Amino acid sequence: MEGQKIRDLAVRFAVVLAVILVFGAFDYVAHSSSDEYSVPPRYFRNKIIFGTLYGFIAYVLARRLPLFRRAFVFSLVVSILLQIRYFLEGYALDFVILFLGIHFLILLPTAYLAFGMADGHGLTRTATTPEEKPHVCSASHAFFLASSPRRLLQNPRKILEGLVAEGETVLDVGCGPGVFTTALAEMVGDRGRVIAADLQEEMLAMVGKNAEKMGLGERIRLHKTGVDRIGVAEQVDFVLAFYMIHEVPDRERFFKELSTILKPGGRFLLVEPMFHVSKAAYKDTLEKAEKAGLTPLRPVKVFFSRGTLFRKS
Ligand SMILES: C[S@@+](CC[C@H](N)C(=O)[O-])C[C@H]1O[C@@H](n2cnc3c(N)ncnc32)[C@H](O)[C@@H]1O
Repeated sequence: MEGQKIRDLAVRFAVVLAVILVFGAFDYVAHSSSDEYSVPPRYFRNKIIFGTLYGFIAYVLARRLPLFRRAFVFSLVVSILLQIRYFLEGYALDFVILFLGIHFLILLPTAYLAFGMADGHGLTRTATTPEEKPHVCSASHAFFLASSPRRLLQNPRKILEGLVAEGETVLDVGCGPGVFTTALAEMVGDRGRVIAADLQEEMLAMVGKNAEKMGLGERIRLHKTGVDRIGVAEQVDFVLAFYMIHEVPDRERFFKELSTILKPGGRFLLVEPMFHVSKAAYKDTLEKAEKAGLTPLRPVKVFFSRGTLFRKS
């Protein structure tokens, strides 16, 4: 538990540092745009050091806020605190206000994107509003799950290559906005079927909309699961559980049910986020899957992740 806390803090620190480094680069360009705005080099060094420090404290304190408010508070705190130095050193008030605005405008989208990506990849545990279920990736992060940088780093077609054949029936459990669902639907072709299953209606609605847009609606069936029950009646050739098992409270029960849904000899690909799920926690998950009759075949390499391919014995 302590280890997990330290890991969460380290990841938050790395996310904040990344935001401040991007901010620093843009800020440097803004200050270099005119002699009137130039500041000594030590200002940039201090912005990286103090910006990361203030930002980290602000981010930890605001960690329970929803994404936009968290990014807003973070950007405001860092912008204001960084301007105090200019003010104390006698820079004119209009200069201080101008750069407070510029800093804020650079920080807000950068922080929003970085925090959202980190949340979407399960790197940071966002706290939840009362209507959200604890530890379930909120539908407000769907944008990041479906973002182009993610598709580039975790290309669904490449990851799934050779694992699914035409005409098969597959289940994408915890499908989220459906990045992998649509890729699976393309791979199984006209004769195949994909069951897109998720706890959250909003995620399923996104999958449905995308599937229609891509002309794949006929091949995809949307299925709402319960927290403790997948509830799919038919048997499938392949199951994908991408970045979702760590959100399932009772994994033993989940794998048992999953095993009954897989046809004998059926394949199961499990992928978990590396920075969020420790080696020990992943090993424990593998053991639970094995106990449910899923035999690990080989590790599967996925960027920033731990992945394993299983076969139902
Ligand atoms: C981090 S998202 C990953 C989404 C998708 N697999 C991807 O990689 O883009 C996790 C998803 O799993 C869903 N989820 C969590 N627990 C679940 C459960 N017990 N049954 C079905 N879906 C679940 C959440 O609603 C969320 O959409």
